[in-house]
Amino acid sequence: MPIDIKTSQDIEKMRIAGRLAAEVLDYIAPFVTAGRTTNEIDQLCHDYMVKVQQTIPAPLNYCPPGYSPYPKSICTSVNHVICHGIPGEKKLKNGDVVNIDITVIKDGYHGDTSRMFYVGTPSIQAKRLCEITYECMWRGIRQVAPGARLGDIGHAIQSHAEANGYSVVREFCGHGIGKKFHEEPQVVHYGRPGTGVPLSAGMTFTVEPMINAGRADIRGLADGWTIVTKDHSLSAQWEHTVLVTDSGFEILTVSPGMPPEPAPAAAR
Ligand code: MF3
Ligand code: CO
Ligand code: CO
Repeated sequence: MPIDIKTSQDIEKMRIAGRLAAEVLDYIAPFVTAGRTTNEIDQLCHDYMVKVQQTIPAPLNYCPPGYSPYPKSICTSVNHVICHGIPGEKKLKNGDVVNIDITVIKDGYHGDTSRMFYVGTPSIQAKRLCEITYECMWRGIRQVAPGARLGDIGHAIQSHAEANGYSVVREFCGHGIGKKFHEEPQVVHYGRPGTGVPLSAGMTFTVEPMINAGRADIRGLADGWTIVTKDHSLSAQWEHTVLVTDSGFEILTVSPGMPPEPAPAAAR
């Protein structure tokens, strides 16, 4: 399957889906507090998507080949959970860091974005991991332009993570997105500059690095979805959906509450 190039009509709908996904994160932020269960967060997001936005939560019953249907409307990945954490009855506690990953479908198009949230006060180590991972995502996104290669994105992410003593998860990656949740290409978060598929205007895909404080190795839990670090070290992830434009990139998952782009290293 070739990589789908979006038309201007497609792109207009991707902007809407992207903004709505990001707005769910804005909405849920004040509820990510100690004592709340991830099930409660899932229920609040579900109701906001379905009743307020009239969007479809894409994860609910999502069932890629070899998987069981995903049972909830969002993913909540706490501390050493890398991704695809299933909301449950466990309460968040002070010091937890949690990734909330939202994918909505609006008018047939997907928007996919995630952020890290601090429950109360994070440890210095957890805060640093979340911040560096955010910088990794942005360093990857800044590579996006027509003629650049997927390996440029991966290399920008991997080099920054490893320079800070962290490791990049290999088994899960960013992905093309549009009318389908997961399309080509696979956007891996490691690689060599000048290698891989060349980008062209009209491609839409996610950049969503998963960065571990310890080793890169993963383990899948018996629920069929939850992925954790094998060494139980902390893991962080941020995700945007981006469009390749004629001159560079456009972030599609924009909202008033999204954190700003980090200042380039030279300015800090
Ligand atoms: N939102 C995730 C991603 O970024 C995919 C979650 S699949 C689910 O690709 F079924 F777990 F929701
Ligand atoms: Co994604
Ligand atoms: Co996602």
